[in-house]
Amino acid sequence: MTTTPAQTATIIPLDNVDSALVSALLDTAFEPERHTRTAYKVRDGVDWLPGLSFAALDENEMLVGTIQCWPVALTDESGRPHPLIMVGPVAVLPGHQGQGYGQALMSASIAGIDDRAPLPQVMIGDPEYYGRFWGFTNTPTAGWTLPGPFEQRRLLVRCHNQMVLPETGMLGPWLR
Ligand SMILES: CC(C)(COP(=O)(O)OP(=O)(O)OC[C@H]1O[C@@H](n2cnc3c(N)ncnc32)[C@H](O)[C@@H]1OP(=O)(O)O)[C@@H](O)C(=O)NCCC(=O)NCCS
Repeated sequence: MTTTPAQTATIIPLDNVDSALVSALLDTAFEPERHTRTAYKVRDGVDWLPGLSFAALDENEMLVGTIQCWPVALTDESGRPHPLIMVGPVAVLPGHQGQGYGQALMSASIAGIDDRAPLPQVMIGDPEYYGRFWGFTNTPTAGWTLPGPFEQRRLLVRCHNQMVLPETGMLGPWLR
């Protein structure tokens, strides 16, 4: 358990939280129709990664934010899958936004990625936020395809060496 110095967020593993509470929070931060989003299709059929998924509690130990990460792969034109970690949804309750919870959740997930063999991270989100704090960029994803509509400028990746990423490919669940 980590208490961040910037404010009173407590970060705990997401598997300590009732899944019904997580669903209710996501419905509030996004919308109940969120399941039809392209991001859900990318990770269809896989479970979130418990070591990289967290919840944020406020000073009253109420759930105010969550982050989930998923095993996905970019399949290149030769049919070879390149594994990546899909980050998101990152969700903070509207009344608690702008207080550092989003940054605390993202930092917890990124800190959980194994430095010895880091997989690239991919997400659909605002480049102004995820680029500013963690260096996510949409440049390497210009030729990537998703199983549904998406804004290319919001398809972001974070990687130590962008040369390892295929220029083209279809993003989907990593089904081993
Ligand atoms: C996006 C989100 C996760 C950010 O979390 P948060 O706890 O509100 O943000 P933080 O407190 O960590 O960071 C605040 C800073 O980031 C900036 N910021 C927050 N969201 C931003 C966005 N979407 N674009 C650009 N900047 C953003 C704020 O302006 C603030 O900047 P400042 O410190 O210079 O004033 C949260 O607002 C949220 O849940 N939004 C609704 C769901 C969503 O869109 N999720 C992202 C897609 S998966």
